[in-house]
Amino acid sequence: MASIWSSMSDNSSNKTSEGWNKAAEVYSNVFSRVTNAIARDFIDLTHKIKPIDEPDSYILDNGAGTGAVTINLATRLTSTPVLATDISDSMMSKIRDQNLSNVQIRVVDALRLDKTLQDDTRRSEKGGFSHAFAMFVLQFVPNDATDTFINQMISVVQPGGTVGLGIWGDKIDNIDLVNQVFLEIDPNYKVRSVWTADEFPRTEPEIKRKVESMGLKNVQTIDRHDTAGFETTEQLAVYMFEGKNPAVEKLYDYWREAHPEIGIDLVREKFTETVGKELEKDKDFLRKIGLQSISVVGVKP
Ligand SMILES: C[S@@+](CC[C@H](N)C(=O)[O-])C[C@H]1O[C@@H](n2cnc3c(N)ncnc32)[C@H](O)[C@@H]1O
Repeated sequence: MASIWSSMSDNSSNKTSEGWNKAAEVYSNVFSRVTNAIARDFIDLTHKIKPIDEPDSYILDNGAGTGAVTINLATRLTSTPVLATDISDSMMSKIRDQNLSNVQIRVVDALRLDKTLQDDTRRSEKGGFSHAFAMFVLQFVPNDATDTFINQMISVVQPGGTVGLGIWGDKIDNIDLVNQVFLEIDPNYKVRSVWTADEFPRTEPEIKRKVESMGLKNVQTIDRHDTAGFETTEQLAVYMFEGKNPAVEKLYDYWREAHPEIGIDLVREKFTETVGKELEKDKDFLRKIGLQSISVVGVKP
């Protein structure tokens, strides 16, 4: 079965957008606490490099989704204009609901930023965005599009402006848990990455080197480990098996390819059993389910 991320055609963009539409609600409910904390530190790091509240600031949140970065920015900066873009309109409905006077929303493919935003007069007047953020977006484009993704961000930023990326690290416990269950069912199962851009580096020094190699200067990073804060096995199971997050769905697509005879319902049953066993060993197991993320910010020369 072809992956929904496998081509950069318009058709693929539509499918990408559909996948994220379904994910919006659950993503926002479960992950907002942790992504808000990550976004706050990501913005603070950017602000240290180039203050975000200068009179000339015009900020892009590329792949804004449910608005972890945009809503944080907009509540801190009531008059600075922020443009929130995403390939999925409904991912941004939470931002729209806030009616933030300084935020505009547009459906834009991150791989076509420059062309699509040519009609943005504010961007032309200012010679580009002063700051561009893309938190947890780059890993969802194809491997051969990651340079385009970064170059597109660099191209829409003014000289001296910042380009920031949020990247999920290697330790994502909830994904590892599903893979553990797959291996319990089939010890020979070949576990695969959930990221379309699985060749993009996921460690702090490698990510830093990568963005430096693409021309960004004064590159600074944060490597952090958060807990997702799942409270119950059912909440975790609903997120993992009904959340429709396209990255998580890839896990099941790969499993179905290898084992069309073993349905996902059985995987879910085993998953619940495995979590139960882990909780017997450690009653805080659920609350400890952790996520590693790296924020990286550099300056366009
Ligand atoms: C994991 S969410 C992150 C959302 C938000 N930045 C956050 O950190 O909470 C990934 C977002 O990237 C968007 N996305 C995926 N591919 C995209 C593309 N090619 N262009 C623009 N947005 C894209 C999805 O629609 C989704 O909203």
